[in-house]
Amino acid sequence: MKKGIQLYEGKAKKVFATDDKDLVIQEFKDDATAFNNKKKGTIADKGVVNNAISCKLFTMLEANGIRTHLVEKLSEREMLCRHLDIIKVEVVTRNIAAGSLVKRYGFAEGTVLQNPIVEFYLKDDELDDPLMNESHAVALGVATYEELALLKSRAEAINVLLKQFFADRKMKLVDFKLEFGRHNGEILLGDEISPDTCRFWDLETNEKMDKDRFRFDLGGVENAYSEVQRRVLDLD
Ligand code: TMP
Ligand code: ASP
Repeated sequence: MKKGIQLYEGKAKKVFATDDKDLVIQEFKDDATAFNNKKKGTIADKGVVNNAISCKLFTMLEANGIRTHLVEKLSEREMLCRHLDIIKVEVVTRNIAAGSLVKRYGFAEGTVLQNPIVEFYLKDDELDDPLMNESHAVALGVATYEELALLKSRAEAINVLLKQFFADRKMKLVDFKLEFGRHNGEILLGDEISPDTCRFWDLETNEKMDKDRFRFDLGGVENAYSEVQRRVLDLD
């Protein structure tokens, strides 16, 4: 598979064309940002860790009937993917109150939600990814009501699978963000699933094992990422 021109550079990844127009290469960087670029830094080997974790999780989801953009892991930092027309909706699913849910609605951090909350955010850095409902998304032309219903039910199904996967590895899946895209008439799960895009707490100690360590200068960022990798990849 020949790596072609760079199509896009995001905050944590670059996307390259290949000689097949249906396929792209997603390359994971060590750059870390938080609060929409207001905080910047690097996390050593984050790209390698997040690629490994994402490939493993997408493979597990595919095995359980969830269609994703993953074709194969090409190298330490590269994932071969189906080329998606990304839907400009970030789908956040929450099992435990943390982050913006605490800030916006006053939940006590750590409150277990009886039913998972699914939220839609507009994927638009200039606007700071505002929270939106279905009517906003349809009015903005980013998705149809049918697509949004599908995104929500897909996120709920993924949540059931991920929650169990992480519980088996002694982690609580607090919340996570998904992105989806259109590919040949189908909607596939895209982007990544990693400690950058999820919150994980240790099942016993509730220690934070994700990007919150970087966001809030808690220290031990690299160690937390590699511990998640160790547990996800079932390494001893
Ligand atoms: P929040 O509590 O800040 O809204 O974040 C919810 C989840 O979404 C959390 O697991 C982190 C993830 N997330 C992203 O992946 N990208 C983002 O831009 C934001 C704001 C959150
Ligand atoms: N991903 C966003 C940023 O890069 C926000 C975050 O994860 O906190 O700024």
